[in-house]
Amino acid sequence: MQTRVLTGITTTGTPHLGNYVGAIRPSVEASRRADVDAFFFMADYHALIKSDDAARIERSRLEIAASWLAAGLDPARVTFYRQSDIPEIPELTWFLTCIASKGMLNRAHAYKAAVDKNAAAGEDADAGITAGLYMYPVLMAADILAFDAHQVPVGRDQIQHIEMARDLGQRFNHLHGREFFVLPEALIEEQVATLPGLDGRKMSKSYDNTIPLFAGGKKQLREAIMRIVTDSRLPGEPKDPDSCALFTIFRAFASETETAAFRRALEEGLGWGEAKQVLYERIEADVAPMRERYDTLMADPAAIEVILQEGARKARAIATPKVAGLREVLGLRAMRTAGAAAGPARPAKVQRVARLASFRDDDGRFRFRLFSAEGEELLLSVPFADPKAAGASQKRLKQLGATAAVVQVRGANLVLEIDGEAVASTPDYPDEAAREQALTRLRLALDQLATQD
Ligand code: TRP
Repeated sequence: MQTRVLTGITTTGTPHLGNYVGAIRPSVEASRRADVDAFFFMADYHALIKSDDAARIERSRLEIAASWLAAGLDPARVTFYRQSDIPEIPELTWFLTCIASKGMLNRAHAYKAAVDKNAAAGEDADAGITAGLYMYPVLMAADILAFDAHQVPVGRDQIQHIEMARDLGQRFNHLHGREFFVLPEALIEEQVATLPGLDGRKMSKSYDNTIPLFAGGKKQLREAIMRIVTDSRLPGEPKDPDSCALFTIFRAFASETETAAFRRALEEGLGWGEAKQVLYERIEADVAPMRERYDTLMADPAAIEVILQEGARKARAIATPKVAGLREVLGLRAMRTAGAAAGPARPAKVQRVARLASFRDDDGRFRFRLFSAEGEELLLSVPFADPKAAGASQKRLKQLGATAAVVQVRGANLVLEIDGEAVASTPDYPDEAAREQALTRLRLALDQLATQD
């Protein structure tokens, strides 16, 4: 069976070398694998959340499409489209909005960061924050769930969004008693390099330290490379390859043999000016043939439009029946079928939600566990001598919900406190990322508990 891999690219910028090494190149490579069914799209609705500069968004869409195609993306193999060509995505966004808990969206990192920034500036908590930013995770969940993607390659900063997409998919599945949506997983490519920029920090348009991939041609590529910050060592003095951005960038393009030779040359005192020339030539060797294709594509936007329309057709062949099925389930049916559908009340629901389970431990004391809807053990309580105390504690837990619950990090696990007392703890998790993800699941379960009965 093929794994459906889906990812979106927000269309606000011009692709740079960091995008190429971190996203474009690995995605194009993955899309050539026989066991992968790749979906790549331009997240231009997401772009509207970040920018109201129409010309910039239009330009960015064109540049990004041309860059991916020039880098070898084969639109015959891959479903390559624009988000804004798929009306089922905003439709599904609304369906998901209606089941998304506001508390979950309050906890989204990007929204929280904006609120914290306002607080620090002494502003109203929501000053300048649009509902679009707030709803960002739901739109992203619709992007993913509309196509039943199994895996979503993203950067670490997006893990929470994928967790939320899972939560929403899961919630819908539970509410309507069937596996309507595949629950996606984040795919974090550990070995994919994060490229340093001109100043050595991560290459990013927000740091203004990028090297353009195609824009400006080889002249701008060379000029940017000549601006990479180095130390003041003179030609002839040995350089430390491991502490310079220049070497890291070189390694992202070169073979092991070339990298070893470049390392030796630096250690033997190659001057920075010459080193930059070597770097430029190495990158240019890879980029030149792609740039030629890029320039041809940029000169013929109508040809790109045809490719994207065909991509939208392929994407909608999946999304249209999917969303039509959801409309049925939600009761948005044609009137003529209403009588038949009204039939014998609603179909039996398989309600699976988080639950608490009490038990007596070996010492005869009373404890309880919290299980997720899927049956994962999320919490084990401390022992209570008195069953009433254990019951009261469970009652408090049910009233709390995720927003009010106090969850503390204790090393490898999490501890839930009520009125300052540790009441229950999670199992140990192997690392911080696993613990973070468990926290998201715990909060979902606490929210589910709070909305029961
Ligand atoms: N939010 C993603 C980013 O900023 C872009 C994106 C939008 C996306 N929708 C998506 C990525 C769906 C993966 C899947 O990088």
